[in-house]
Amino acid sequence: MLIRDATPRDFPAIRAVIRHAFDRADEANLVEQLRDDGDVLCEFVAATDVALQGHILYSRLTIVRDGEPLEAAALAPVSVLPHFQRRGLGGDLIRAGNARCAELGCAAIIVLGHAEYYPRFGFSAAAAESLEAPFSGPHFMALELKAGALKASGRVRYAKAFGV
Ligand SMILES: CC(C)(COP(=O)(O)OP(=O)(O)OC[C@H]1O[C@@H](n2cnc3c(N)ncnc32)[C@H](O)[C@@H]1OP(=O)(O)O)[C@@H](O)C(=O)NCCC(=O)NCCS
Repeated sequence: MLIRDATPRDFPAIRAVIRHAFDRADEANLVEQLRDDGDVLCEFVAATDVALQGHILYSRLTIVRDGEPLEAAALAPVSVLPHFQRRGLGGDLIRAGNARCAELGCAAIIVLGHAEYYPRFGFSAAAAESLEAPFSGPHFMALELKAGALKASGRVRYAKAFGV
């Protein structure tokens, strides 16, 4: 199993993975809209030579503060085919994606997701508390990549495809 960057040739298989993982099409449609809008920061797949088992996407997210935009990332969605879950693939995808976001110079990563899962990778609701966003509560979490980036308050602006 290899974690690698997604390529356009993977796109049909990625759609199938996401649809199976979420048991609906909404997240697959979101991924395609983010690509169409040019808002994808990075996208990885978990794959063997013959098939894809998992996928993750990070999109551009801006934190606006005193008129100054801070470039950050939104992690969404992450999916692993049900048959291949609980083998560490989701974690491998998240670690690879987080590392790429740091390389790209993102100040922070924001995620809306399972409150028991993402803290394993350093995300916390406490880190997101300073942010003014369409979401809040235990599922709305952040990971600071640049020290102090989330200390001051700021308004979170998601990519257009999220519709929030
Ligand atoms: C979430 C997901 C990507 C994790 O993939 P994975 O390859 O199983 O992840 P890992 O093997 O790295 O980690 C498995 C752990 O995640 C936990 N986990 C999975 N779904 C969870 C959930 N809904 N709430 C809390 N923990 C969850 C499992 O309990 C497991 O814990 P364990 O290690 O103590 O057994 C996968 O379950 C999935 O595709 N789910 C459907 C789509 C989805 O919900 N995506 C995330 C949206 S926030």
